[in-house]
Amino acid sequence: MALSIPHGGTLINRWNAEYDYSAIEKVIELDNISLSDLELIGTGAYSPIEGFLGEKDYESVVNNMRLATGHVWSIPITLPISSEKASAISVGEEVRLEYKGSTYGVITIEDIYTPDKEKEAANVYGTTDLEHPGVKKMFDRGNVYVGGKITLVKRIEREQFGEFHLDPVETRKTFLEKGWETVVGFQTRNPVHRAHEYIQKTALETVDGLFLNPLVGETKSDDIPADVRMESYQALLKNYYPLDRVFLAVFPAAMRYAGPREAIFHAMVRKNYGCTHFIVGRDHAGVGNYYGTYDAQKIFSNFTADELGITLMFFEHSFYCTKCENMASSKTCPHGKEDHVILSGTKVREMLRNGEIPPSTFSRKEVVEILINGLNRHAVQS
Ligand code: ADX
Repeated sequence: MALSIPHGGTLINRWNAEYDYSAIEKVIELDNISLSDLELIGTGAYSPIEGFLGEKDYESVVNNMRLATGHVWSIPITLPISSEKASAISVGEEVRLEYKGSTYGVITIEDIYTPDKEKEAANVYGTTDLEHPGVKKMFDRGNVYVGGKITLVKRIEREQFGEFHLDPVETRKTFLEKGWETVVGFQTRNPVHRAHEYIQKTALETVDGLFLNPLVGETKSDDIPADVRMESYQALLKNYYPLDRVFLAVFPAAMRYAGPREAIFHAMVRKNYGCTHFIVGRDHAGVGNYYGTYDAQKIFSNFTADELGITLMFFEHSFYCTKCENMASSKTCPHGKEDHVILSGTKVREMLRNGEIPPSTFSRKEVVEILINGLNRHAVQS
C-alpha cells in the first residue's frame, strides 16, 4: 500500500520535547502566525522545510516558487522581527522562540536579512494593495526576517477540538489503517455548503477516502469562527457522509489569502499529511476580486507532475440548478444563471448573522442551524 511520498522525500521531524534550552537567554517573541508555522515545521507538515527561511530560500520562493534546492514551494515561511530586535541577535546564536511567556521552540540563527516587502507582496499576493488582508498582515509584521533551523520544544495547548489535531505521521497512519491507498485532501476556511459537498463527493467517487482538512489558524475577522465551523462539519459528516470514507482533522495554519500561490502551498502540505489527490475549485484561497476564478488551477501548469507529487482535482464553479434539479457546474449544466442558486460568502454570512435561513439547495439545514446559533453565541461573547 502506498500513500503520497512526503515533499522532498522524507517527513521532517524537528520536535524534541527533551531539548535543553535552559542556558539560552535571548528571546524572540512569536506572533500567532509564526507560532503556528513553528509547530507545522516541527511536525513535518511543511516538509522539506526545517526552519524559517534564510535569504537564499526566501528569494528563490518569492521569485521562482521554489526553494533553493529546486523543490516546489510558493509561500515564504518567514520569522519577522523588529530592527531593534535584529540588532540584539547574531548569526550562529541559539535563540528561544516564545509566545506569551512560554518557550515553544529554539532557532539556530543562520541568517538575518531585510526583505523587499513590495516585491514579496507583488509576487506572492499578486498585489501591493494594503486592503488585501494577507498583504496588510505581511506589512504589519517586523521588517527584518530571521532564518534558521528550528527545534519545536513544546506543543500548543488545545482547548478546543484536541482530537482533531493530528500530525502528518498520525494522519498517514490513520489512512493506512483505514486501508486507503488514494486520499483526496480538501482545504476550507468556510462552512461546507452544498457546492463544497458536491465537489468533495464527486472527487470521492474516484478515490478511496476524503480528508476534510479545514484550516483553523488565524483567519480574517469576518470569516466564520473555527469552533462554529468544526461543529458544523461534524454534523454534516454524521448526517450526509459515509463515515468509513471520510476523515476530519484540522490544519492549524494561518490563512494567507494568497489565492494561486496559496493553492500550491495547500497542496504540498496535504501531500505531507498523506494525500495523493487535492481539490482546487473556484477562486481557491482567494479574497475580494484579486484573483481570476481559475487562476489557482492554472498556476499548477508551471510544474511537472513529478515535481508536484500529488494529483490535482480541479472543479468548475458549482451550484444547485433548479432546471437540472441537481448540483451541477458550469461544465455540466446547460442552463442560465437565473436557474442557479448562487450566494456569495459575504451574502451568506450576512443572512446568517440576521438569522435568515439560506435555501436548502445552498446549505444543509443541520449546518445552517449550527451556524446561526454559533454566530449568535459569538455575538453575545464579543
Ligand atoms: S478557501 O479559501 O479555503 O479556498 P473555501 O473554503 O471557500 O475557501 O473553498 C474551499 C475549496 O472549495 C477551494 O478549493 C475552493 O476553490 C472550492 N470551492 C468553494 N466554493 C466553490 C464552488 N461554488 N464551486 C467550486 N469550487 C468551490
